[in-house]
Formats: sequence, C-alpha cells, structure tokens
Amino acid sequence: MIEADLVLTGISELATPQGTTALAGSSSGRLRVVEQAAVACFRGEIVFAGPERDCLQAVKPEPDAVRVDARGGTVLPGFVDAHTHLPFAGWREQEFDERLRGATYSEIAARGGGILSTVAMTRAASFEELTEQVRARLDAMLRLGTTTVEAKSGYGLSFEDELKQLAALRDASEDHPVDLVPTFLGAHTVPVEYRERREKYVQLLIERVLPEVSRQKLAEYADAFVDAHAFELDEARRILTAAREHGLGIRLHADQLADDGAASLAAELGAASADHLEYAAEKGIEALARAGTCGVLLPAAAFFLMMDATPPGRRLIDAGVPVVVATDFNPGSCPADSMSAALWFACLTARLTVDEAICAATLNAAHSLGLAGEIGSLEPGKRADLVIHAVPNRYHLVYRFGEPRVSKVIANGRLAYEKNGDRSNFRPYKEK
Ligand code: NIG
Ligand code: FE
Repeated sequence: MIEADLVLTGISELATPQGTTALAGSSSGRLRVVEQAAVACFRGEIVFAGPERDCLQAVKPEPDAVRVDARGGTVLPGFVDAHTHLPFAGWREQEFDERLRGATYSEIAARGGGILSTVAMTRAASFEELTEQVRARLDAMLRLGTTTVEAKSGYGLSFEDELKQLAALRDASEDHPVDLVPTFLGAHTVPVEYRERREKYVQLLIERVLPEVSRQKLAEYADAFVDAHAFELDEARRILTAAREHGLGIRLHADQLADDGAASLAAELGAASADHLEYAAEKGIEALARAGTCGVLLPAAAFFLMMDATPPGRRLIDAGVPVVVATDFNPGSCPADSMSAALWFACLTARLTVDEAICAATLNAAHSLGLAGEIGSLEPGKRADLVIHAVPNRYHLVYRFGEPRVSKVIANGRLAYEKNGDRSNFRPYKEK
C-alpha cells in the first residue's frame, strides 16, 4: 500500500503531460487524460495519479490525511509562468491610453518613457515596499493557479537597484507557496545616465553587477533585451557570455519588435529559452530547433501591444522547437498576471491547441527553467503542485475564456488556496 498524507478525489478529468523533458513537434500536445481520477500525495510529492478506483485500492491514507474533494473539477499541474517582470513599482496606464490614441510602444520608449518610467518608480521604492508588492503579486498568482514563476530584475539598471530587485524576489518568495526562479535582466535597456556612454553601462554590468549577483547567488538565469531601444546583438552576446561564465543559464528577449537576429544568438549561446519571437525569421527558428532552445510565446503581451505580427506558435511547433507559454507580466506590455489569459491568447491568436497550450504552460515551461525533473506534470515522484479548475474538462479553460476558474491550489502537497465559498458543483461527480 502507498502511504499518503493528502488525497484528492472527485476529479472529473485529470490532464497532464508526462516525462521529465519538454515535448516538441507532433508530440507537443500529448497529454495523459484520466476521467474519474484521484491524486495522492505524501510529504509534498505525488505518490499516485490515476483512476479513482485504483487509488482506493493502492493508497492507504494516514489517519489524519487531508482529504480534498475536487467536486467534479478538472485537475492540471500547477502553471509554470516562465517569463515575468515581477519586481516593479508603479503602473503605466497613461502610456496605455496614449497607445490607444495612436502612439506606439517604440515611440514611447524613444522619448524616455516605457521601461525607463518604471525604472524611475522602482528606484524610488524602498526595499520593503518592493518586497511587499512582490509578495502580494505572488499571492495573486497563486490564486490564478501559478505554482512556479520566473521573475526578472531589469527595472533597477544600477548596481544598487538591480540587487535591490533581486533581493526583494528572494525575501518575498521565502516561505511562499509559489516557487520563484530569479533572472538577472540588468540588460533590459540603457539607463538615462548612461545614454551617451552606453559602453560604460555594458562594462558596469559585466565587471561589477554580474559578479555580485553571482557571488550572492541572487539569480539562476541572465536575460537581455535585444532591440533598437535596448541592446545590440553584440552587446547582448558579451553580457550573456559573461553571465554564462558566472554559471548562470541564459534567456533572451528576442525578435519581439523586429527581426534582430536574436533567435540565432540565443541558439549560439545555448540559451535555455528565446522569448517573444514575433519577428523571428525562419533561420532563427531553425537554429533554436537545432540547439534545443525553448521558444517562449508571450501572446497576451503581443495582443496588449496590438502588434501586427502574431506569436509564432505553429511555426515553432512545425520546426520542432519546444514551445512554452508565459504571461510576460509587467506594467508596460502585459499588466495581466493570469496564466489562464496566456492560454486563451496562445490558442486564439498563436493557434495552439488546448492540449499544446497546457503542455506549454506546464512541462515545457518547467523544462525551460531546468525543473522538468521536479515539476510540470502529475506523476509519482514529482512535486505535488496541482490546480483544481472548476470546469468539467480541460477544453472549458479556453472555450469559456474571460474568467479564470481556479477553485483550489495544492502547492508542495499542501492546500495553499481555496476559493471562498466555492460551491461550484456544476456537474456532480459520480463514481462509475
Ligand atoms: O517583455 N520587451 C521588453 N521588456 C518587456 C516590457 C517591459 C516594459 O514595457 O516595462 C517585455 O515586453
Ligand atoms: Fe519580457
């Protein structure tokens, strides 16, 4: 008999990718689907996931085991949001209004707004304020079914302020049910005080900030934004090569607003991921496939920026690039923190199937963070991070877009969130 300290029954449909590596090509949407299912956990790990009748036979819950009733809901792995800019202060709703009146994101950046507005507000925030805001955002993400989040600095752009952002991430995520993977994005844009001497800023990152980030183990990845208003290809190459020498993994904001050749750079550097990719050329996409670099689609950001180019969902899958879907949560290009919303846009704009989008938001996202051995699927041996959605099957998550329907979240084998007064017995579950 398998011991269990938490047993989840009453699952109308359990849907999960399987394995410890990303799915690509024609397997991109391969899910195991079990109706009338149950999951059992022990000390934070999944020990059983499968038909409820088998669970009743195979699992022996401890006398004081926690019993959770899914009330006929759909259970998926916790969402893994592999691209966010979490530690920021202030919003930019005025710029949004300007964009609705015709200004473009690049025009706003060119006159010193955009990322630089958030840099000013983030620098002005105290460490305590920033930490508190990050904690509140992690709480909100948990309620939306996210159990692991990657979070980038990049609104400090000075030695002190980049470290302040990364330390806020560390402190806010300590003891939080949401697991956080920090990324150093000092190369987000060139700060105002270095505009006339950008080479000095590149040197500051390479010679002072990166070594300190690495010494204090404040980041697992480094990222850079290659763009006309941010960094040139060769500057990004130098910064990320230095980061790699410090033992950091590499991610890259690539070909978001133009074909800058950044997807090819990500492949050349052996990056874990190349993100955005709306304007990536075939050559760059083929290079990603050869390098095994994940392509991170941020379809809610593309939608919010009202871009002409669509996120290249089908192009990546056809080329054999493992596809990830993430929010890009940030105050400029995607003020939405909901992975459910990212899934809606992944299907409705980037043309993924529901099953592909689910893999992209769980196992593939975990793989892009080097965590596919631990999370991203519901299988014995993986961490018990899972979400009960108040819908009868997975299609409803996208089909009835407009409202996330998370009813309970189990993180690390513990009930971490329960929707208040959830009476969503929309289809009474009956044992067959
Ligand atoms: O991923 N493209 C660069 N960085 C963010 C936006 C940051 C901002 O506008 O504040 C992005 O879209
Ligand atoms: Fe981003």
